[in-house]
This record gives sequence, C-alpha cells and structure tokens, in this order.
Amino acid sequence: MATGDSSVQVGPVPFKDVEDDGDMVTALPERPSEEHVGLVSALPCCTIADMKLRCYQGFWLPEGMVPAAAALQRRFEPRPSDVIVASLPKCGTTWLVALAFATLARRAYPPGAADHPLRRLNPHQCLPFLEGLFAGGREGKLDALPSPRLMNTHMPLAMIPGAVPAGGGCKVVYICREPKDMVVSLWHYLRRVHPDLEFSEVFDMACDGTTPYGPFWDHFLGYWRASAARPESVLFLRYEELLRDPAGNLRRLARFVGLPFSAAEEEGGVVGGIVELCSLDSLRGMEANKAGYMDPRVKFPREALFRKGVAGGWKSHMTPEMARRMDGVAADKLRATGLALP
Ligand code: A3P
Repeated sequence: MATGDSSVQVGPVPFKDVEDDGDMVTALPERPSEEHVGLVSALPCCTIADMKLRCYQGFWLPEGMVPAAAALQRRFEPRPSDVIVASLPKCGTTWLVALAFATLARRAYPPGAADHPLRRLNPHQCLPFLEGLFAGGREGKLDALPSPRLMNTHMPLAMIPGAVPAGGGCKVVYICREPKDMVVSLWHYLRRVHPDLEFSEVFDMACDGTTPYGPFWDHFLGYWRASAARPESVLFLRYEELLRDPAGNLRRLARFVGLPFSAAEEEGGVVGGIVELCSLDSLRGMEANKAGYMDPRVKFPREALFRKGVAGGWKSHMTPEMARRMDGVAADKLRATGLALP
C-alpha cells in the first residue's frame, strides 16, 4: 500500500462520493473467503443473533473479519496525517464519526452549508470502514484518498499495531461507554433484525466477554493504555462526557487532530454549529438516516443507529443483581489499570 502523504491537504472527502460501493464498506462480510475458511474454522466459535464470532488473538470478531484482522496487522501503513475513529459497537461510533468528519472537513464544508455531506449521507458513508475494506481485499481504495484521511474501525488496537507505534503512526480517537448502556444499546439494535433475542442472552455474553469485538474490557484497555503512554497519538473520549459537554470535547478533538478552532471560528459559532449538526435530533431527522440499511444484506435499518442517546438507560433493563454482576466483572478486569468507568 502506498503511504506517501499528499502535500495538498484536501481531505477528508466523503468516502461515498469517491467510492461507488460506499455502502458496502459498512457491511460485515458474512463469511471468510475460501482461502481463509480453514484458518477461521479452527478458531473457537460463538453466535450472537445469527452472527458467528470467532476468538482471534483473544478477541471475538465477526468471523468474516478475522482475515481482515490478520491483513490489517500485516499491511496497514498509516500516513502521519491519518485520523482513525475507533470504538466498540454501540458506544457512540456514529456520533463521533459525524463530529470528526464535520470538524476535519469544516473548511470545505462549514457546518451550516446546505450541501454539507452529513445532510445527504449517513455518517458511516462519509468514512471508509477499515476492516470492511481489508476484509474484501479492497484496501487499495484507501490509497486514492487525499490527506488527511479519516477512517473508522471497531478493531481492538492490537489488530492495528501500525496505527500508533512508538514515535510514528497516525492519530486515533477512541470513544468508550459505560458497558451497561452499551449492552442495552446492542440488544435494542440486534432486536431490529432478531425480535426474539432475549436481553439476558446479550447481557450474559457481555459479562463473558463474547459480544462482537469484545471482551469490552480488553478493547477499552488497549486504547486506554495507549492514550496514557502516548497522549499525542491516542485521544480517549467517553460517551457520557460527550453528552455532558459536547462543545468542550469537540474542542479537545479539534486540538488533538491539529485543527484547533480559531478565535474567528469561535466567534462565528462554528463549534456550536458542528455540535448542532451532529446532535441526535439533527442526524435522526436527515433523510439519509431515515431510510436504507447499514448492510443491504443484513437489513439493520440506518434509523436504528439513532435511539435514545442517554446515559443510564440500563436502569430500566437490568435488575440490581444484573447491574452488580456487570459492575463486578468490569471492576475485576479493570482493577489497578487506572481506567475508571462512569
Ligand atoms: P442508545 O441505543 O443507548 O440510544 P453506535 O453509533 O456506536 O452504534 O452507538 C449507538 C448509540 O449512540 C445509540 O445509543 C444511539 O442512540 C447513540 N447515538 C447515535 N447518534 C447520537 C448522537 N448524535 N448523539 C448522542 N447519541 C447518539
């Protein structure tokens, strides 16, 4: 893969505009290619809502993503100006994707612009999904993108070691969420396609560490430790903090990627404009987010990405015993790591 940085800073461009097949990059390959079937079928397996997960190097990946993880580890070579948005599913990915795109692309697309890409595209159509491209052997599509490139991933940091090696790599912005809310959000999402799925099933899997891309604690910790060791390379955000102070966290994000808001932008209301454009109500109201599917084959509706958007919703889904169990798992796994959950 070419790694040369473009000297003209015109990125990020909406990926869907440069890639006809933009919708498919958010899709999970249903199964590994023929070439990888042998390797993948030897791995421990579990199933969540018809999705087969395989335990690869300690993480439960959708099975079609295992070859992508191997390829990412071997071949992903970031440009220094790249920014990767990373998260576990249901931790606020879509929101952060939208905020990051609106922030990095604000010179070309001021937040109030009628033709802003977020007014006609789902946020996920604006960014290439790293493992979706690597899983399909289509990572060459990344080479054609102008710098700075903005990409997203659900992979644990261990699967993208090229992203933040000591003294190099690119920038990674991670979003973490209270795991009890994450599991409630995951259940609601999966139920859109599997209405009979029991909450207790998803809950048990989260406690056992076997939800997609989990264990959640190891996913959080990989990025947490990297952010502590190299704060200039990894920014660790929290969904609950973003809810509490979206503008303050947006400023942190902009400073981190080297594009702080100028005094003129502050006075011109650019920060508030981006926060408003990317708010739950605003995104939910866009036509591009009301219709269509994340993956045309699996039929998760795009509108399912925008639900309640609150902290503490777990209280109406979990018994006190369930909450204690999950808190206990998290406390046990995160003990002495310095990472405290909300
Ligand atoms: P809930 O299901 O708890 O409401 P992801 O994008 O990683 O799939 O995360 C989805 C969660 O983020 C959902 O949480 C969804 O409602 C919430 N969300 C999506 N867009 C949001 C926004 N603009 N602001 C706040 N929360 C948002």
